[in-house]
Amino acid sequence: MTAPAAPSGPGQAATVRRSVIRGTGHYLPERVVTNDHFTESLDTSDEWIRGRTGIERRHFAADDQCTSDLAIAAARAALTSAGMQPDDIDAIVVATSTPDFTFPAVATMVQAGLGMTRGFAFDVQAVCAGFVFALANADGLIRAGQADRVLVIGAETFSRIMDWTDRGTCVLFGDGAGAVVLEAEDGDGTSDDRGILATDLNSDGRLKDLLHVDGGVSSTGTAGQLRMQGNLVFRHAVEKLAATAHRALDKAGLSAGDVDWLVPHQANLRIITATAQKMQLPLDKVVLTVADHGNTSAASIPLALSVANSQGRFAKGDVIVTEAIGGGLSWGSVVLRW
Ligand code: ACO
Repeated sequence: MTAPAAPSGPGQAATVRRSVIRGTGHYLPERVVTNDHFTESLDTSDEWIRGRTGIERRHFAADDQCTSDLAIAAARAALTSAGMQPDDIDAIVVATSTPDFTFPAVATMVQAGLGMTRGFAFDVQAVCAGFVFALANADGLIRAGQADRVLVIGAETFSRIMDWTDRGTCVLFGDGAGAVVLEAEDGDGTSDDRGILATDLNSDGRLKDLLHVDGGVSSTGTAGQLRMQGNLVFRHAVEKLAATAHRALDKAGLSAGDVDWLVPHQANLRIITATAQKMQLPLDKVVLTVADHGNTSAASIPLALSVANSQGRFAKGDVIVTEAIGGGLSWGSVVLRW
């Protein structure tokens, strides 16, 4: 989805619309659940969960909190960080697989919750890869001139689709939301521009059974529960994540040596470490939040971006790569300059 530079005449600089991150924000529910919580009801241990996944704790939404509540809190924080008001925003894109309702979209609930009276709002569903897909779509809207400012949110309540008797899945996931504000800025079409430089999106529906929810509106009429063949997903993740990151870097005209930060989907520390190794990136260039958040699906990348940004870790001009894989299987990456 890398748009070519606009044609330019002799002596005339080519301009392209880039999507620059102006602000970030996140929200984590108050309830923190440590690994020991699961040892009361399951044959598992803190040692196994930490050793196999790197997860130490996760947040779970309160009974009266829905995905839109988390998304609205993250969106408010991102708007504050960007110094913008709700009506400065032209579009809201929410990545989620755990919406409050079958419809309306969570994004329209966020729009109402923020008091926005203009613009448009819709959801994107690509499970753990959802934020990468949402970011690529928002970038497409900005490049096409459909919007100048887009609020992109990843928000999930995966605790609502867990099978609490399945130790292979229920210890992995957490709830949360993260958000970024994108704004159009003219660039000269080179990799020196700020903003999103390239995206790479992939899906392979033949692999749908590896990671799925066993219910839905038109099948069972229930929300269903998450089912995963973890070790197979693991193998696909390690193979596909480094490959998509390399493809996006290539499209941007950059290489792994140019990367200042890898902000990966936070599913499993071993997947993250293996991907960083394949990209020959030291772990001190990798943003890690998996220990504290667990796997928050589409929320994990914007959460990690927001946490790292609030710690002042990104400098203007840094090259950041995000990558994720999830149910579908769907996977992809985004390369941007901060
Ligand atoms: N505690 C103790 N033992 C466990 C637990 C647990 N919580 N969970 C599984 N085990 C056991 C298994 O039963 C198995 O036992 P057995 O050998 O007696 O049958 C053993 O541990 C090994 O199981 P594996 O599944 O092979 O373990 P693995 O090392 O692969 O780790 C894990 C499992 C953590 C799930 C890993 O496969 C993984 O992280 N997979 C990828 C998850 C992921 O990234 N998902 C994608 C994104 S999610 C999304 O899109 C919604």
